[in-house]
Amino acid sequence: TRARRSTSPTHNDTRPGSPIALSYTPTTQAASRAVPFQQPAPLLTFSYDDSHTLEFTNAAMRYYVEPPPRAELSYGYERWVRRPDERGRLDSLLRAYTKVRAQGVVGAAGAEIGVVSWRGVMTRILTAPYENRDGWEMNVMLCDGTLYFEEHLTEARLQEKNNMPSHQRTQTYYGYSFESWCAASEPRAVPGWHGDVNTNVQWCSLVKTKLGATRLVIGGEVDCVRDRYDGRNDTMVELKTSMNIRGPQDEQRFEKKLLKFYFQSFLLGVPEIIVGFRTPKGQLTTLQSFKTMQIPRMIRGKPDSWDPQICLLWGDEFVTWLRQTLASWAGSGGPERVWRVKFAPGVGVEIVMLNDAETKDVGGGEERVGFLPSWYWKEIYQ
Ligand code: A3P
Ligand code: MG
Ligand code: MG
Repeated sequence: TRARRSTSPTHNDTRPGSPIALSYTPTTQAASRAVPFQQPAPLLTFSYDDSHTLEFTNAAMRYYVEPPPRAELSYGYERWVRRPDERGRLDSLLRAYTKVRAQGVVGAAGAEIGVVSWRGVMTRILTAPYENRDGWEMNVMLCDGTLYFEEHLTEARLQEKNNMPSHQRTQTYYGYSFESWCAASEPRAVPGWHGDVNTNVQWCSLVKTKLGATRLVIGGEVDCVRDRYDGRNDTMVELKTSMNIRGPQDEQRFEKKLLKFYFQSFLLGVPEIIVGFRTPKGQLTTLQSFKTMQIPRMIRGKPDSWDPQICLLWGDEFVTWLRQTLASWAGSGGPERVWRVKFAPGVGVEIVMLNDAETKDVGGGEERVGFLPSWYWKEIYQ
């Protein structure tokens, strides 16, 4: 079977804090059925300014410009205004979602929407069948028929991210620097450096889509657009950096990375990915543009290749299973109950019900019900 339920849930298992002996395992065997994925429809875009304040404008939108040849990605490193890593709260996504709901764009009944999530979490879920290195954890709530996903970062992992070794931090900077070489506030700008990196600034897109029978609302950052933007996602561009490919092994490694590039863009309906290849020391060498939808065909049949259908099938089964399981456990605490889903590569996902102390910790001492902001809670249960 493609996804295996190794233990069936029983209500006796649902003691807060105790791991529930329930797991689901993705496999990479051929997909037995095709799971449809609806073309993501843009709902709203928004920006964060240079102090990371949310505004419903396109102020942070950028236009693609070809970078100068051999641009140095280390340029401007010492002037980088770096946003600290923090918990992946849903707050701004929920503000945007609330705004479009009030406009009636996603249907008045929130119950129609099966999942609300940032794009990064959905990418991790969908690529799980092929993940053999990194595990992940997320917090989940089921309120009024909708699953809310929040990335769970342990305090230790947060510390680790904020105290990255300097070489790793430099590599991370290369990715942001590439954006400053490639994206300007005005269309058709002269190639060059388009301003020092401030990772507070982001332009985001909120979309509505459907995986199998589940409607999803997903938000994520969009790096830039090509020439114009008229409210659709068909001119959006994702920028990526990657090390030069020097041989078959590098090529294989890159094709594996393409799985994540692909789903990251696919989920928001971003049709183009521009990869800047670089030397280990951060000098740009070549650029390559990929049409997102053509990537699966490009890598098909290659060694260590992947099949997006496997990911969609797994994603559909996972989401359906999670929704049904949590709904059947609704008696073990109301919608304020928080669950933790843990993924271990090659093993699968496991659901744990959080106890009161853990739930409080997830709330972080802020005005929240579980991890949802109180204002949003009132919004759905008023
Ligand atoms: P690259 O992906 O080119 O390395 P994104 O590509 O998603 O727009 O992100 C921009 C840059 O942020 C990345 O550039 C990378 O440098 C950094 N980044 C994004 N996600 C990261 C993660 N999970 N860990 C470390 N760096 C990350
Ligand atoms: Mg980005
Ligand atoms: Mg990018």
